[in-house]
Amino acid sequence: MSAASLPPKRSITVLGSTGSVGTQTIDLLSADPARFAVRALVAGRNAALLAEQATALGAEHAVVADPAAYPALRQALAGTGITVAAGPEAVVEAAAMDADWTMAAITGAAGLAATLAAIRRGRAVALANKEALVCAGEVMLSAVREAGATLLPVDSEHNAIFQSLADQNHAALEKIVLTASGGPFRTASLEEMARATPDVALRHPIWSMGAKISIDSATMMNKGLEVIEAARLFGLPDAKIGVLVHPQSVIHGLVYYQDGSVLAQLGSPDMRIPISHTLAWPARMATPSPRLDLAAVGRLEFDEPDLVRFPALRLAREALRAGGGAPAILSAANEVAVDAFLQRRIGFLDIASTVEEVMAALGTPPADTLDQVIALDAESRRAADRLATARAA
Ligand SMILES: NC(=O)c1ccc[n+]([C@@H]2O[C@H](COP(=O)([O-])OP(=O)(O)OC[C@H]3O[C@@H](n4cnc5c(N)ncnc54)[C@H](OP(=O)(O)O)[C@@H]3O)[C@@H](O)[C@H]2O)c1
Repeated sequence: MSAASLPPKRSITVLGSTGSVGTQTIDLLSADPARFAVRALVAGRNAALLAEQATALGAEHAVVADPAAYPALRQALAGTGITVAAGPEAVVEAAAMDADWTMAAITGAAGLAATLAAIRRGRAVALANKEALVCAGEVMLSAVREAGATLLPVDSEHNAIFQSLADQNHAALEKIVLTASGGPFRTASLEEMARATPDVALRHPIWSMGAKISIDSATMMNKGLEVIEAARLFGLPDAKIGVLVHPQSVIHGLVYYQDGSVLAQLGSPDMRIPISHTLAWPARMATPSPRLDLAAVGRLEFDEPDLVRFPALRLAREALRAGGGAPAILSAANEVAVDAFLQRRIGFLDIASTVEEVMAALGTPPADTLDQVIALDAESRRAADRLATARAA
């Protein structure tokens, strides 16, 4: 297929269709429905929005993970001809249905099995669920190799690197750099961060995202998870992956080559741009995203990240270097700690210290199979929950 031509009609599955990435994917599909045939839409429990999306796009199948949401979904879709199902197994079955392109946008470890099922079909998988590569990197990548699947990075930074690497000789690459907005506490003192409430931490200055990734941006754990994700996606060691704080979020990622050239991808901070890139790949499609106006932006600023105020980034790099199950422990402990913070059981700075303690306690066990990863995930969650409960007391 030439880069300019698009396939006639692509079959599409969206895992996590009711979330932030999911609804933006649905927006793009709705803008040009003749080009896409929707196979399956999957959500956690939001039956009302899922039913609305499935009806509007004429999906074949709609699934909720939470069985308690099944009656509402069944009732909302009665008489439409759209088949419905519920429960974790039904989620994986939907992911395994044949589709040309799957958006993997379920948050956290809950998305592991479905993302793996989509990869095993050997087609294109647009990967937003970064935790899948972080927790089960080798499992996912060996499934990609075995099935001949194509992973298309959705995270704006990885998508930027993917675009800047296109057709370049990997051997000529010196390093890549992921940019970070710095989040709501970029210039805050440690004392201010210690007192931060969920409301303040959720207020991201640039991106509008789901709750978990918004808190991860505030601690910079998000950038740490992205360093691990980049190591997996692009086959690079920690030393070749830089991070630069760039509050305007105009440059999303940079690739340094051995001749001194630097290629970067720029754009307005709008997730529809990287999502559309994966949706139309290897062609491009029009989006309604605001066009970048550099004169209006005026100045672009860059800073080194502060690892004292943002220890989560250091912890993620340590987990990457340790290998084995360390990234899975980091990610699972972080999910629990973020949840505990959102429930006001622990303070903002306790998120990273909880993760650090769980990592120290569990070490670097193997994570070569999905079962090992799932067992490790459960053990890390229990350890993190015990610590959060002790801190809350
Ligand atoms: N948001 C962004 O801009 C952004 C950017 C880059 C990467 N990402 C990554 O993309 C992923 C999704 O992020 P998000 O911000 O879109 O999250 P979100 O808004 O919280 O949405 C999560 C989606 O997953 C569904 N879900 C939750 N638990 C599920 C389960 N057990 N089984 C099936 N579906 C389940 C949710 O359904 P309900 O609505 O029914 O709960 C929802 O559709 C994350 O891994 C995140 O790190 C996000």
